[in-house]
Parts: sequence; C-alpha cells; structure tokens
Amino acid sequence: QHLTYADYIKAHIRTVSDWPQPGVQFRDITPLLQDPKTFRVLVDIFVHRYMDQRVDMVAGLDARGFILGSVVAYELNVGFVPIRKKGKLPFTTIAEQYELEYGSATVEVHADACTPGQRFVVIDDLIATGGTMTAGVKLLRRLGADIVEAGAIVDLPELGGSQVIRDAGIPLFTVCDFA
Ligand code: PRP
Ligand code: ADE
Repeated sequence: QHLTYADYIKAHIRTVSDWPQPGVQFRDITPLLQDPKTFRVLVDIFVHRYMDQRVDMVAGLDARGFILGSVVAYELNVGFVPIRKKGKLPFTTIAEQYELEYGSATVEVHADACTPGQRFVVIDDLIATGGTMTAGVKLLRRLGADIVEAGAIVDLPELGGSQVIRDAGIPLFTVCDFA
C-alpha cells in the first residue's frame, strides 16, 4: 500500500489524551522532530512548496512554530521573524489578542519586522481554533506584509480554525489532519 508524505508525517505525531487538561487530545510533534528522516521530510515539504513563490521572509509563531519556521527560512535563504507571546520582545511592538482552545493570549511582533509589500509565509505546528495563526497574520498585515500562505503541520478540522482562517481570506496549507 502506497504511503504519502502526509501519512508518513502523521504516523510520527503522538497523541496524548487529557493533556494539558481533561478532554484535550494533545497532538505532540516531538517524535516527528526527534527522527532525523521525518524531520527532513517535513522541512522539505515546506521548502519545495515555497521555493518558487518569491518568499521574502518566514515568520514563526511562539514557540512550536519557531522550530519548523526557522529551518524553512534558512533553507529558502530568507530571514526569520518571531511572533512572540506578550512581553518577550524587547523593542517597540504591536499586539493582537486572541482566544485559544484552552485560555486566551496576546501575540506581539516588532514594529520594524516587515517593510510594506514584503512577501511572508507564516508557520506554526498546529491549527486548533485558528486564533494564534489569525492573530499572527493580522500583525504582519498591519505592518504591510503580503501573506503568501499560512502553513502548519497539523489541522484539527473539528475545531473549525482552518475554516475561519480561509474565510478571513488567508491562504492556508496543512500537511495532515486529525478529525
Ligand atoms: C499551540 C500551538 C499553536 C496554537 C494553536 O500553542 O502550537 O500555536 O496553540 O491553537 P489555536 O489554533 O487555537 O490558536 P500554545 O499556545 O499551546 O503555545 P506553545 O507553542 O508555547 O506550546
Ligand atoms: N494547541 C491547541 N490545541 C492543541 C492540541 N490539541 N494539540 C497540540 N497543540 C495544541
């Protein structure tokens, strides 16, 4: 039976029940990162997808989006911008508040992280309610970024986030989903 790259990636994601609270099925990407072959396949999926898209910059979402995002930026020969949880960035920032599957949060980016018209890919590990990705894209758009695509490893379609993101006019790519 033929195994796609998406199946191969999905097979290396671990599910932990009732973490960090009862009722949550936590999709843990650490086994995927720990295996050098799957980590390389994962990075290459994103690099091949964006290498001919005239991407100027990759942004990563705090904290798990930094792991994939920075490697993809390096391989595309472009810079990396961290979008961080509130209070972590030292220079002048702009902020967006959002709701999570569990709790609420604010993300920030440095005010000089983008020059108008720069073409950004925004990377995270997972889309749940879509709040984090939507807030990150909003921040970059406020700075004049042109969003080529939002990209993540995992979609949780039952939480509706990927639909909310696409309905907001944000192109979205995910490698696999857990329904
Ligand atoms: C997780 C995940 C995404 C976000 C997805 O991060 O890494 O960033 O939640 O949820 P959403 O689509 O409902 O916004 P978390 O806030 O747990 O932080 P971490 O990366 O520091 O673990
Ligand atoms: N972030 C939000 N919901 C999550 C989940 N179910 N698994 C992993 N990360 C998450």
